[in-house]
Amino acid sequence: MNEVFIAPSILAADFATLGDDLKEISKECSFLHLDIMDGHFVPNLSFGIPVVETLRKHTDLIFDTHLMVDEPKMFIKPFIDAGSDYVTFHVECTDEPFELINEIRSYGKKAGIAIHPYTPIEKIYPFTKKGAVDLILVMSVVPGFGGQSFMAAAKGRLIEVRNRLDKNGSEALLSVDGGIKDTTIKDAVSSGARLIVSGSSVFGKSDKAEAIRNLKNLSYQALNE
Ligand code: DX5
Ligand code: ZN
Repeated sequence: MNEVFIAPSILAADFATLGDDLKEISKECSFLHLDIMDGHFVPNLSFGIPVVETLRKHTDLIFDTHLMVDEPKMFIKPFIDAGSDYVTFHVECTDEPFELINEIRSYGKKAGIAIHPYTPIEKIYPFTKKGAVDLILVMSVVPGFGGQSFMAAAKGRLIEVRNRLDKNGSEALLSVDGGIKDTTIKDAVSSGARLIVSGSSVFGKSDKAEAIRNLKNLSYQALNE
């Protein structure tokens, strides 16, 4: 699949102006990335169910919810009820990933699985089988904070996953998250990522729509090189 989507992450947003900012970015993108942190799996807290519920009333963007929590099972239903379209949990946080995928899909929603940069990439290979999952998220920073630098090792990890998805005929979206900006996005796309999460490089800019247009242009350049 050669379409590239940008998923702005509101972790970097100004929450006081977020309603207006969502209107602005909706002209340029269809996904919104929502980072949920529990203070255990990652050493930080972000926002929770009521915030997602409120945002749902203000936008039709596809909610790409990234659960950085030790007990994802506890939060699947609440975040789906709050309006999530994709729910992605970490492979490190459960012994029963396929049960969780089935549960998410049983609500008619898309299931994603994420991998921490220090987890051996082989852990994600079972999910590259055709139909196993709807999204695979390869983290390109240690999860927990926005504004970090892209880890170059993510490129090789994305390529491994991309090759397996293609070989298996899987249509799962390959996502990348962390440190994506104008100088790194082409590497991420040429390594096979198609859903590109970006926090500070969108919400940290004064013209957010322009920032997304710029990232999209660079993505298509990478696809055509
Ligand atoms: C990090 C989060 C990311 C974060 C990305 O734990 O999962 O989604 O918002 O932020 P930037 O794009 O600033 O690296
Ligand atoms: Zn994220």
